[in-house]
Amino acid sequence: MTIVREDSKIIKGIANSNIALLKYWGKSDVMKNIPDMPSISINLANLNSYVELKTDVTKQLILNDQPIDNHTYARWNRVCKAISSKELNQIELGINANNNFPTSAGLASSASGMAAMTVALNQYYGLNLTLSEMSRVASKGSASAARSIHGGFVETVISKGQSPDMHAEQLVDENYWKLSILICVTDSSIKKISSSEGMQLSKKTSELYDSWVRLSKNIISDGRQALLDKDFEKLSFYTELSCMCMHGVMMTTRPELFYWNLTTLRIITLAKELRKKGIPVTFTIDAGPQVKLITEPDFTKSIEHALNEIDGIEKVIESSIGEGAYCESV
Ligand code: PMV
Repeated sequence: MTIVREDSKIIKGIANSNIALLKYWGKSDVMKNIPDMPSISINLANLNSYVELKTDVTKQLILNDQPIDNHTYARWNRVCKAISSKELNQIELGINANNNFPTSAGLASSASGMAAMTVALNQYYGLNLTLSEMSRVASKGSASAARSIHGGFVETVISKGQSPDMHAEQLVDENYWKLSILICVTDSSIKKISSSEGMQLSKKTSELYDSWVRLSKNIISDGRQALLDKDFEKLSFYTELSCMCMHGVMMTTRPELFYWNLTTLRIITLAKELRKKGIPVTFTIDAGPQVKLITEPDFTKSIEHALNEIDGIEKVIESSIGEGAYCESV
């Protein structure tokens, strides 16, 4: 039931999606959403989520013009509880969320959505939380959401011990290294198995899981150094190693998690061919068939040109590295 009130104010949280160059897959604590390993991501300026908190209506929870499903409700509820100590169905607000890119298709729409919701709720309740604190709140919605609070290059920090927790910190900002990202959408339909479900299955069933946890720690420290040194070749090596190890774990999960399609493979092959010709380009793939190509801005056009020759690409979204989440009052 929608309850309409007289006083009307809209608080709008805006956050960008992010992609991990050095990835996480698997959790040490599912209830608290704590990953088994850290991750390092870049913020995507052109993939945006908008979350409006409306004070004139309550009990209206909308995502992309549709009432939210139970899975989304659970995610939103965890963020709401972490920031307000109230259940989602107890707060006196309507929430209207939108993404300007495909939702639940392996493009981290929950990361940007939960970060946007966190900054909006922080403003609504007048909490003045620090970015680290907001990152901790957003992580309750999804671990990757912790990264979308910050702009630029971001690393997650996992604290173990009595009360395990996670949040993310900015490593360097969006101006440190100008990179260009080409997001090749090869199938925008909703993925069959969500990341959270997939990770739990992998941890339970993949023979490679323990090695992945061990190896990913080295990948992170060497990959972080390559990033700080702005060494594109080394960063490409660790980016692809992280991606391939994660997909190896996914593919050896029972039942198997095979997120790629033929176009995914064609784009990987193209990236390798372009690199042989001297073009600095690397790829990464999350829990879906989309391929994200990372390059230096001067090479964007020639890569786009080469992508035109590949069948099966629905669209290419170009992005630079973006800023952190912020809020507007309307
Ligand atoms: O935190 P989630 O549920 O959005 O899962 C993210 C998982 C990957 O995108 C595949 C890897 C990563 O580190 O972002």
